[in-house]
Amino acid sequence: MARVVNVCGARPNFMKIAPLMRAYQAYPHLAPLLIHTGQHYDQNMSDLFFRQLRIPEPDVNLEVGSGSHAQQTAQIMMRFEPLLLEHRPEWVVVVGDVNSTIACALVAVKLGVRVAHVEAGLRSFDRTMPEEVNRLLTDALSDLLFVTERSALENLRREGRPDEQVHFVGNVMIDTLRFNLTKAEQSTVLETHGLKPGQYNVVTLHRPSNVDDPATFRRIADALEVITADLPTVFPMHPRTLHNLGRLGLAERVQRLAGLRIIEPLGYLDFLRLMSQANVVLTDSGGIQEETTILGVWCLTVRENTERPITIDSGTNTLVGTDPDRIITAYRRCRAQAASKPPAPELWDGQAAERIAAILAQHTPE
Ligand code: UD1
Repeated sequence: MARVVNVCGARPNFMKIAPLMRAYQAYPHLAPLLIHTGQHYDQNMSDLFFRQLRIPEPDVNLEVGSGSHAQQTAQIMMRFEPLLLEHRPEWVVVVGDVNSTIACALVAVKLGVRVAHVEAGLRSFDRTMPEEVNRLLTDALSDLLFVTERSALENLRREGRPDEQVHFVGNVMIDTLRFNLTKAEQSTVLETHGLKPGQYNVVTLHRPSNVDDPATFRRIADALEVITADLPTVFPMHPRTLHNLGRLGLAERVQRLAGLRIIEPLGYLDFLRLMSQANVVLTDSGGIQEETTILGVWCLTVRENTERPITIDSGTNTLVGTDPDRIITAYRRCRAQAASKPPAPELWDGQAAERIAAILAQHTPE
């Protein structure tokens, strides 16, 4: 039996790890272990996702919690190293681009354990984003690179990665979306918040570049003033954003917006239901750009760049930056015309995790 250590830590990791844990079951010579770093720890940022996505209980939770980048990354590394020494796995599988991803990849490679990176090769070409640094470094350390879209193949080729290490497999986040879509229809989130399908917007914001800087946050609030006056707008608020709202003195300004409903972060099924029936989703998330592409829902991305260009090419996603006029113009364009469902990007068919498990199994001695 070959041990395969799987790492998850922050909310967007959980949707990516869920289908992988299922797919390993087809390969009896792979013995998966699941490690939660504890980067996210709130009930509605972590536990709820494990329950709803039926992810097995983590074998170990490193319980690192929050901290500066250096503190968080260092804590994860220090707590992860003894585990690898104990289990001596054949592979460490990391997903996405959060601090847990790079921290565990770095520990593994220094101990001579091979690393597989799921969602490799995405590049925003913006090194002020912590995730871009995590992506570049994790890919540089990985022995197997699993890619979601063709742009990532080009990026990795440009960085000199040999073709035999790179596999275009599709998107595990979309595996989870497809797996749960019917179940999400039973969510009563619209009724709970008094919303009618297609008659409301959704906002999510949590990137440091948007919510840590008062001037930027204020510009986004200017745009929200117009958008929330047009249609009710639900804002499931990330803890970082909630914290900053108070710290930056913006709470009163935002709470005054009559059409805006700030709610707690939602579980996966409620959020999927909410997003699937929205008129427009305004977001700075990476995953939501992908999910709205599959759902055929307008997405306005409050950033100047995206590492997921396929979502723009498909037609539902637009980069709007943080200038209120630009956001509002794009919003009005969406309001003038219903979104149509674009064809799904290549290989976003719900089978990415099966492809990954098959390739890992091939690369692992029986
Ligand atoms: C992290 C990821 C980001 C991802 C996001 C999704 C990094 C560098 N960033 O950002 O890529 O898009 O997760 O949510 O890894 N907090 C809580 N409860 C929690 C978790 C966090 O209250 O369960 C608060 C704490 O105040 C913490 C802050 O949120 O300091 C930020 O958490 P952190 O994990 O550092 O980064 P995120 O902004 O969540």
